[in-house]
Amino acid sequence: MQIIEALVPLRMAVERLRQDGPLALVPTMGALHQGHLTLVREAKAHAAHVAVSIFVNPRQFGAGEDLAAYPRPREADLALLQAEGVSLVWAPEVPTMYPQGYATNVSVSGVSEPLDGAARPGHFDGVATVVCKLFNQVQPDLALFGEKDWQQLAVIRRMAHDLDLSRPYADDIYGVPTVREADGLALSSRNAYLTAEERQQAAALPRAMQAAIGKLQAGEAAAPCLAELQQALLAAGFASVDYAELCDASTLVSLGAKGDAPARLLVAARIGRARLIDNMAV
Ligand code: PAF
Repeated sequence: MQIIEALVPLRMAVERLRQDGPLALVPTMGALHQGHLTLVREAKAHAAHVAVSIFVNPRQFGAGEDLAAYPRPREADLALLQAEGVSLVWAPEVPTMYPQGYATNVSVSGVSEPLDGAARPGHFDGVATVVCKLFNQVQPDLALFGEKDWQQLAVIRRMAHDLDLSRPYADDIYGVPTVREADGLALSSRNAYLTAEERQQAAALPRAMQAAIGKLQAGEAAAPCLAELQQALLAAGFASVDYAELCDASTLVSLGAKGDAPARLLVAARIGRARLIDNMAV
């Protein structure tokens, strides 16, 4: 497994790997868990080689967010990737990604705006910018992202379509279903912020979402179901709910009730030091 931190050796390594067949990219910010490893395994099924990027992207963290505290267990991450048979780890430092004088921003309107876009201004510009750069740097044939970040996936697909990217084509950007703990909590690097008590309380999130989905599928209006969901989270120990919305699954336009088109329930809520997000099909 090659660990590369500079662009020229990256280009040379990528050129060599591509001679064996398709190259897949799994972009990450490190602090790897089973969810990331599931992406790597899925990538291996579609490609001759898998590259994983590890870069904690400062541009997608707002003021007062957890950039400094974000876990960076580099050696443990590298050991996990080595064991998965990853061929290349792209691990640039911040000045390599954003050198002195860096001035370009990729901004996707529409799908970036509601939900996390409203709760975390600038977040999706940071994501779209770094993912566009990662695609240009690694030039993968396909890329894989977790569906846990449903809105992020929609933003990245929109960006790839709109910018006519070809490595990867928008159609070669795959979403992989969320990996969950036995009690339903979605795996996330930010679960590491939870105390033992908060970790138990956090299981109320998928439980309350499932309860709401049952009612939405039975044709109940979204507003009372979502209000009940929020109450259930606050009663379980969550400090606040940033949003709980029923949305069109691809445009993320808010819906008043489940209709014929695929819909998604998306929630972000805070507990202790963690802000947890989750989403499920309705
Ligand atoms: O999902 C993440 O880990 C990040 O948002 C990503 C896609 C690697 C961009 O920094």
